[in-house]
Amino acid sequence: MRGSLFFVCLLFGLAVALDNGLARTPQMGFNSWNYYYCNVNETHMANAMDDIVNLGLDKLGYNYVVVDDCWALRERDAQGNMQSDPKSFPHGMKVLADRAHSKGLKFGLYSSAGYTTCAGRAASLGHEKQDAKLWASWGVDYLKYDNCDRGDVPAKKRYGDMRDALAATGRTIFYSICSWGTDGVAQWGAQYGNSWRTTDDIYNGQDAVTYNIVAND
Ligand SMILES: *[C@@H]1O[C@H](CO)[C@@H](O)[C@H](O)[C@H]1NC(C)=O
Repeated sequence: MRGSLFFVCLLFGLAVALDNGLARTPQMGFNSWNYYYCNVNETHMANAMDDIVNLGLDKLGYNYVVVDDCWALRERDAQGNMQSDPKSFPHGMKVLADRAHSKGLKFGLYSSAGYTTCAGRAASLGHEKQDAKLWASWGVDYLKYDNCDRGDVPAKKRYGDMRDALAATGRTIFYSICSWGTDGVAQWGAQYGNSWRTTDDIYNGQDAVTYNIVAND
């Protein structure tokens, strides 16, 4: 009896979670923020890819290389598309995605479920379909979706619209919800994303580890 009850619960669990085949195990890799912040550029990202492979970290499952905030300009182009910052990323995002793929790695980008990113760059609220399509055309495999400058649009609407826009691209893209644990994301994150952050930013330090353990308890 216990066995069959468990089986029923398991099926139910699978049915309600976002199912795009990803996040069967936790995502691992490199994200630029806590080391480069807004100074990130394409040299840093290319070096990170080389280092991951040269150190053999890819064989241990560190497969994602994710550019965080500041890859995009504040302004969109005449067609309304996001554009990468030509000073720091002169060859654009597709070249970096191709480079990641040639090394067997996955490439990720960042945006915010708001009007601008935390660093004041172009973000995706109200542009979900257009942005998702553009990223897919570049070969993006992962989106970290932040929570800055969100106005008064409810979180489920903002994060749900991007989930649907990513699914509509036809490309399999890991969807990382970064709403800092707000808006009850623990209750709905699994239906909306492949992962959802439960707390504030971390940093390189033991207190960041203990803070997160306590906050998640
Ligand atoms: C990226 O920044 C480093 C310094 O941290 C610099 O040496 C390199 O030339 C820069 N690359 C680009 C494309 O701006």
